[in-house]
Amino acid sequence: MEITNVSEYEAIAKQKLPKMVFDYYASGAEDQWTLAENRNAFSRILFRPRILIDVSKIDMSTTVLGFKISMPIMIAPTAMQKMAHPEGEYATARAASAAGTIMTLSSWATSSVEEVASTGPGIRFFQLYVYKDRHVVAQLVRRAERAGFKAIALTVDTPRLGRREADIKNRFTLPPFLTLKNFEGLDLGKMDESNDSGLASYVAGQIDRSLSWKDVKWLQTITKLPILVKGVLTAEDARLAVQAGAAGIIVSNHGARQLDYVPATILALEEVVKAAQGRVPVFLDGGVRRGTDVFKALALGASGIFIGRPVVFSLAAEGEAGVRKVLQMLREEFELTMALSGCRSLNEITRNHIVTDWDLPHPRPLPRL
Ligand code: GLV
Repeated sequence: MEITNVSEYEAIAKQKLPKMVFDYYASGAEDQWTLAENRNAFSRILFRPRILIDVSKIDMSTTVLGFKISMPIMIAPTAMQKMAHPEGEYATARAASAAGTIMTLSSWATSSVEEVASTGPGIRFFQLYVYKDRHVVAQLVRRAERAGFKAIALTVDTPRLGRREADIKNRFTLPPFLTLKNFEGLDLGKMDESNDSGLASYVAGQIDRSLSWKDVKWLQTITKLPILVKGVLTAEDARLAVQAGAAGIIVSNHGARQLDYVPATILALEEVVKAAQGRVPVFLDGGVRRGTDVFKALALGASGIFIGRPVVFSLAAEGEAGVRKVLQMLREEFELTMALSGCRSLNEITRNHIVTDWDLPHPRPLPRL
């Protein structure tokens, strides 16, 4: 049967993938409240469409950190994509390039920065986890620079791994035929089996829990690449990120995989946008499955959004063709949303094109999905 929306890929991935792999991609932390909320919260925002505007031409293109892309829909870092499909990150990189958008490669990719670069031209960002051994970090950042990556997305919400109970039950570990390719030569490419989540043990052993704002400054001393601080959920931290020299902020709750009961990112977005005061662009990831979601994020002040799970699920289902299709479906839905709201370019999307339940004098929950 024909796939008509992004969410449909999840069920196909579930059928195709080993349980341990599907659960790793799909699950959130603990009660998974935030996981559901990342989706549900979009239904607290409705449209105020404008009519009788000539929408025969729609321009969805935008510029991110000076790089022109075809639409404000980009690819978030998701780890270990070769568990989903043998071509893993190569397929994602090719699909992103074909769509004229940005791919963010995870530190924990199963393909190295050099291998991804060798797939051909494309604008790519590198997601960074800061290891206790800073030489490892410095070397990796240098390799990403040399491989032509254009920015660092520094993950700041993971001093320890969130409690993902499916991974604990499944004793999640990287399948033996794969490695975390960026760390292969450093003896950090494998995950030991443990009687916990293998990834949680890996993080506890290798990732620097002491990471702080001064390290955001330190990172700027070892690279000229712009740094996006990924994992901001409050105005306070948005201000600190700007002060620390961030080139941009990603409002993210790590796909609801870290601290449970944090708000949906779409609900945290406006506070962060206000605090950033236009000094740096603010992006969002978490729960985006529809073109209408993209529009809502932009109306609340985001400069663009990133998708994570839809990439791994479509990769599992159909490889590169699946990721292309996801990007294409979101592009078409977003274009349709713009047309039906009376917006011809991204700068015509305003806060007045939406109404949220927190705008109403007597907040009344809107019906849930
Ligand atoms: C990786 O970043 C994960 O959340 O598993």
